[in-house]
Amino acid sequence: MSQNKNSANDQSKLMDKIVSLAKRRGFVYQSSEIYGGLNGCWDYGPLGVEMLNNLKQQWWKSMTYRENIEGIDASILMHPRVWEASGHVENFTDPMVDCKSCKSRYRVDFLFEDLSIKRKKETLRELEPGKFEGQVKDDVVVEEFAKRVATDADAAKVVTLLPCPNCGNKGTFTDARKFNLMFKTFVGPVEDSSAVVFLRPETAQGIFVNFLNVQSAGRLKIPFGIAQIGKAFRNEINTKNFLFRTREFEQMEMQFFVKPGTDDEHFEYWRSERMKWYGELGMTREKLQWHQHPKDKLAHYAKDAYDIEYEFPFGWGEIEGIHNRTNYDLSRHEQYSGKTLKYFDETTKEKYTPYVIETSAGASRSFMAFLVDAYREEEAPTAERTMETRVVLKLHPKLAPTKVAIFPLVNRDGMPEMAKNIEADLRPYFRVFYDDSGAVGRRYRRQDEAGTPFCVTVDSQSLQDQTVTIRERDSMKQDRIAISNIRTYIAERLM
Ligand code: GAP
Repeated sequence: MSQNKNSANDQSKLMDKIVSLAKRRGFVYQSSEIYGGLNGCWDYGPLGVEMLNNLKQQWWKSMTYRENIEGIDASILMHPRVWEASGHVENFTDPMVDCKSCKSRYRVDFLFEDLSIKRKKETLRELEPGKFEGQVKDDVVVEEFAKRVATDADAAKVVTLLPCPNCGNKGTFTDARKFNLMFKTFVGPVEDSSAVVFLRPETAQGIFVNFLNVQSAGRLKIPFGIAQIGKAFRNEINTKNFLFRTREFEQMEMQFFVKPGTDDEHFEYWRSERMKWYGELGMTREKLQWHQHPKDKLAHYAKDAYDIEYEFPFGWGEIEGIHNRTNYDLSRHEQYSGKTLKYFDETTKEKYTPYVIETSAGASRSFMAFLVDAYREEEAPTAERTMETRVVLKLHPKLAPTKVAIFPLVNRDGMPEMAKNIEADLRPYFRVFYDDSGAVGRRYRRQDEAGTPFCVTVDSQSLQDQTVTIRERDSMKQDRIAISNIRTYIAERLM
């Protein structure tokens, strides 16, 4: 995404504010922070884990509360042959270079991605002296540069012309090497090659190898799907942008098994379903777009692939992929395991290897997209009728970590007792937060920042007529409702 310098600065400040709020309010912390942190790993705090669980639950419901999709939870460690069959041992690599001068390490395509237009133009001029002189439009530079790095051999030549982003030296990069992104470990006490296993880099393979187990246990008929949520691990060369590219993350994947020849229609169906899901959970439609993988850049297993991209402060980034994986994975597992993974259609008496339409979402990445999308700074009136900036997370109530906060207006006259009774009544049904400290306006602001959609206040009128005010986060409007109606009021808005 091209951004001018000011807007790029603003966007980077915005990202800093979100990361800082995430830490301050207990959404996300750097892993092992007291030891200086571990790159590419993050911990979810009390509000973060609630929100992440809500997000995963929404996905799980949208997938498995259907007649033809079942869930599983496969182990993270799998037989090493799985990754040979899937192609990960051979193909799950990124090109990497080291700077011989300062020892920094870079993923080659990220080096290109992070280059300014100015630097790209200079590199084009160095590659082809006499061309690209004078005024050249930015989009022409971007397009021409992309052409010059399209093949590995061309990219290797261009790398020799680039300065190291860390030390600024030119001509110090090593030749590009392929780096496999899978984390290796050992099963059992002996650390030799026969004991090597990998931490799974995607959850999908746990589904493929269980395809017939699930089909026969549920007597499922094609088309049907298998869904799974779980951790995945990739030894990314460069981690960046908070939760966007990490070494440990969670995926929410669903493989839909279909009859060959019907795959295109199922592919379109799932594309539409998945885009709808983000909108229904309140994500801004204008900040979502499709990116179709060009035919020559498709993964080795794919017939067609689209990414759902979100416009983060640092640019557009993939949050989910929808792939037509053909019968590649099942066929390869048949070949490598020697076991049949064919489906027998009782009605037509046909036997075939199904095609797979995959929806592959990042739970951690979508979490970040929902957090970024919800973040607002707004002018709001204070009790003294002046204006102040309120920071508010306009999270969909279904995703919000805390659903309702309860405040006694003052800490006397029986208000705390009444508020505590309301808290006790609601606690079995919702995540509730009780707050009796500071002015009520401050308490609202604290809940705005945490994304709490409803705040209930017990005031002097409550003591007279058993009513409370309930304030809605986004509009800041207050309704007066009977205490006996609070539960229904909130439940209706969480449907
Ligand atoms: N099974 C197909 C597959 O894994 P992918 O495009 O490599 O496809 C799917 O990954 C999703 O997983 C991405 O859209 C993204 O949301 C998430 N993801 C992948 N790598 C990630 C990383 N290093 N950090 C955080 N999320 C990641």
